Amino acid sequence: MSGGRLLALVLLLLAAVMLAASTLPVEASVGYDHKALIIDGHRRILISGSIHYPRSTPDMWPDLIQKAKDGGLDVIQSYVFWNGHEPSRGQYYFGGNYDLVRFVKLVKEAGLYVHLRIGPYACAEWNFGGFPVWLKYVPGIQFRTDNGPFKAAMESFTTKIVSMMKAEGLFQTQGGPIILCQIENEYGMVESHGGAPAVRYTNWAAQMAVGLSTGVPWVMCKQDDAPDPVINTCNDFYCDWFSPNKPNKPSIWTELWTGWFTAFGGPVPYRPVEDVAYAVAKFIQKGGSFINYYMYHGGTNFGRTSGGPFIATSYDYDAPIDEYGLLRQPKWGHLRDLHKAIKLCEPALVSGDPTVTKLGNSQEAHVFRSNSGSCAAFLANNDPSSAVRVTFNGFPYDLPAWSISVLPDCKTVTFNTAKVAAPTSQIKMSWFEGFSFKSYTEDISSLDGSSFTKDGLIEQLSLTWDKSDYLWYTTYIDISPDEQFLKSGKWPYLTVMSAGHAMQVFVNGEKFGFVYGDIVNPKVTYSGYVKMWQGSNKISILSVSVGLQNVGNHFETRNVGVLGPVTVDGLNEGKRDLSSQKWTYQIGTNGEHLNLHTASGSSSVKWGDAAKDQPFTWYKAYFNAPSGNEPLALDMSSMGKGQIWINGQGIGRYWPANKASGTCRSCDYRGNYNQNKCLSNCGEPSQKWYHVPRSWLNPTGNYLVVFEELGGDPSGISLVKRTAK
Ligand code: GAL
Repeated sequence: MSGGRLLALVLLLLAAVMLAASTLPVEASVGYDHKALIIDGHRRILISGSIHYPRSTPDMWPDLIQKAKDGGLDVIQSYVFWNGHEPSRGQYYFGGNYDLVRFVKLVKEAGLYVHLRIGPYACAEWNFGGFPVWLKYVPGIQFRTDNGPFKAAMESFTTKIVSMMKAEGLFQTQGGPIILCQIENEYGMVESHGGAPAVRYTNWAAQMAVGLSTGVPWVMCKQDDAPDPVINTCNDFYCDWFSPNKPNKPSIWTELWTGWFTAFGGPVPYRPVEDVAYAVAKFIQKGGSFINYYMYHGGTNFGRTSGGPFIATSYDYDAPIDEYGLLRQPKWGHLRDLHKAIKLCEPALVSGDPTVTKLGNSQEAHVFRSNSGSCAAFLANNDPSSAVRVTFNGFPYDLPAWSISVLPDCKTVTFNTAKVAAPTSQIKMSWFEGFSFKSYTEDISSLDGSSFTKDGLIEQLSLTWDKSDYLWYTTYIDISPDEQFLKSGKWPYLTVMSAGHAMQVFVNGEKFGFVYGDIVNPKVTYSGYVKMWQGSNKISILSVSVGLQNVGNHFETRNVGVLGPVTVDGLNEGKRDLSSQKWTYQIGTNGEHLNLHTASGSSSVKWGDAAKDQPFTWYKAYFNAPSGNEPLALDMSSMGKGQIWINGQGIGRYWPANKASGTCRSCDYRGNYNQNKCLSNCGEPSQKWYHVPRSWLNPTGNYLVVFEELGGDPSGISLVKRTAK
């Protein structure tokens, strides 16, 4: 072979090898650098949204995920809800709307990624922050600190979830969709109060998580000292102020609040989309590379899953997809348009840090350039009141107040955060049908066989373990014939102090009061004059929990129930303290024990014509599912407070009698947002409609049960269809 031919052959071979190398699949991997998450060797700008799987039904999941994809999302984020998965210690549940594997697989099928926040502390306005209540009663336990029993339980659950995901091949490195995990949740604040054990716990949690070798990075949100290689991330209404704790970590925004939650007794917050879009653009122009909308679909706190206390059943959150799974317009559409604009900028955005130039007092340009010549610019007007014309690269650009324009080629504006092109949808709730109810009123004068007697007042959770909202406290007081008040007619004064959350007070079967707290102060006190007679008088108190605390320092130590003192004043002796005498307890109502919420349980009592304004009344009715596929809800505005079930499934707590207090002023998107800025529903029930998932209905013969605690008019309950046009 001549030298020339040999050279030609070598060159040919070299070319073949290079071609083969360039087509070889890059091994699946997720890493990061200061700029972005790096997936399969590519830095990515990622748009994510929270959809909490138990807050909707498996039937709704494919549609929600598709709508998220159509809205320009790359990633779905969810917490993992420990108390839903391990309701009793060692007994796991992954069925129904807790089918985590199915959810993750559906996201994969749609071609999206998953950010799994295993926690296992969630917060999330979810009952007890996601912790199972039994965990509180593990001997020697202290939550979220360097405590042996807690760490063992946390490690065992986290490992279980990671192993499940691995077994199903769901991590990105296995070909699955999970690109990111989270351990703990916003522990920074708690750690700053917790001293050395809290710091040790942070390090332990990070090491434990990383040791599980998922192959994908972990984040700790709102935790400035997240140990390497865990990435600390931002949760806030705006995160352009944020930088990670190491120069080699990317800026990730794990919770961009699209609105805010509703509590019973509070108004319904909303957040204008112009401001959400502005916040996103402001973060991206600063160099942020991952944003997650919390929530993208908020959904529903079914059954007794809402936390708080006092979190409403709706977790709509003013999210781009509403509680019912319908597009909230123009929010969804405007953000979709923003995502398109950002994606056009991606090649420049991932190339490096921006050059920032002042264009005016409150105006600036952020310019990103890549080596290959692409250029993207963001022109910001941070002035909350005035629109301005700025000059950029010699051209004039008009910027509305509090807005950012996106120029994916550094010339043409494809999007301005304050100019909404997406249409506005008209939401309608149309009456579909009423119900013909039968009712059964509980006899509250007699406790059932499950009652027991103890000395003194006992904390509610320690008895109920949250199996029921209700705990009866009953005791007796003897009034001797020589009590002065029997002659003067000036009744004795009863005081009952409770750690929360609500209670009804009866003396000799007559109701004297209903008191309840709120999300800020769940403690309640009843005080009032009560009728008593000579001889034995029965004091019964129904203490009611309304969702367990989900946030705060050692929130697991918050008490519920009547802890006293309970006193009767105005007797000959003055005041008598009943706190440490004998009390009889019953966990749950008689109707709960009889399972009246199920069709089979309901046959154990005699039902009559529907009673009106009767406390402790169970209502039942049968109905057929309406045709069509519009989402459904129950209008409960004629009722007081209680719970709803359909075909045995918990629809949630209802409480339309609790009206939204607060000031609902008109709201301008311009200027800094916080959760108290834009409110609706003041003076109205905090929540009057309750989502009925279609998939919980049969075509005919659906069994609806309502338990009313206070008294209401069931003839006003109706099924409504929700439409958005
Ligand atoms: C965050 C928390 C979330 C949720 C949110 C408010 O601080 O991490 O879980 O509670 O607040 O909706």
